[in-house]
Amino acid sequence: MSSPIGIIDSGVGGLTVLKEIVAVLPHQHYIYCADTKHVPYGEKSIKELVELVKHTVQYLVNQNVSLIVIACNTVSGAVLTEIEKEYPHITFIQMIQHGLQGVTKYSPNSVGVLATQSTIREGTYIKRLLEYFPYASIQALPAPQLVLWAEQGNICGGDVESYIQTLYRDFRVQPDLLILACTHFPYFMQIFSTVVSQYTHIYNPASSIAQYIVSLVEPLDTVQSVVSPPNIDWYITGKSDIVYTLASQQGLL
Ligand code: DGL
Repeated sequence: MSSPIGIIDSGVGGLTVLKEIVAVLPHQHYIYCADTKHVPYGEKSIKELVELVKHTVQYLVNQNVSLIVIACNTVSGAVLTEIEKEYPHITFIQMIQHGLQGVTKYSPNSVGVLATQSTIREGTYIKRLLEYFPYASIQALPAPQLVLWAEQGNICGGDVESYIQTLYRDFRVQPDLLILACTHFPYFMQIFSTVVSQYTHIYNPASSIAQYIVSLVEPLDTVQSVVSPPNIDWYITGKSDIVYTLASQQGLL
């Protein structure tokens, strides 16, 4: 594919998705968009989000992008449905439809979802999970503080650990499958792993997204050698220092 691949998030969250994509498609040209001027997206209305994301999508279209990864769960339901109507020539990859494809290998009795308030309120995520697991008990909890901490580059320490412990205890039933339904949350994977029971599997949708993109872009499954640093352009609407710090820590810069 000759045109760049666009990646959209409110801030640093989408880097956790970009990292997985770059690992399987290191030769592509990427444009990473972080709307740090308006982060967090998690408390905004659908109407506000449609306006914000449309602006970023239009920017990417002007850069000749034809494939856009919405690396933001909050934007992946009703918000994206609105935007897709206006850009029928663009292929959108999104966290709910494509990121959940990997859950089919599990058969949980209980599913815990951690997401933003908007993702939970909007409902598409839970609806889709119920299609996969109609008999499971499914509970979603908001974890807005993790977004704020990730945006500050504060991804470890005692406060983070006790916040995650409390969240985990707040589930009515201990989840067999815990879904990180916000792209900011994989930054805390190490802490999640120490806090949750050995019977809880933690699911990060990013690797399903990466596999899906490979099937679109490189269907012949050619092995690509690593490019260091990868070819990424940056479009950051507000503060950029933490985006670059975290990108650099993940080998993206
Ligand atoms: N990273 C985004 C998500 O996956 C949004 C977080 C936010 O800005 O509140 O939902």
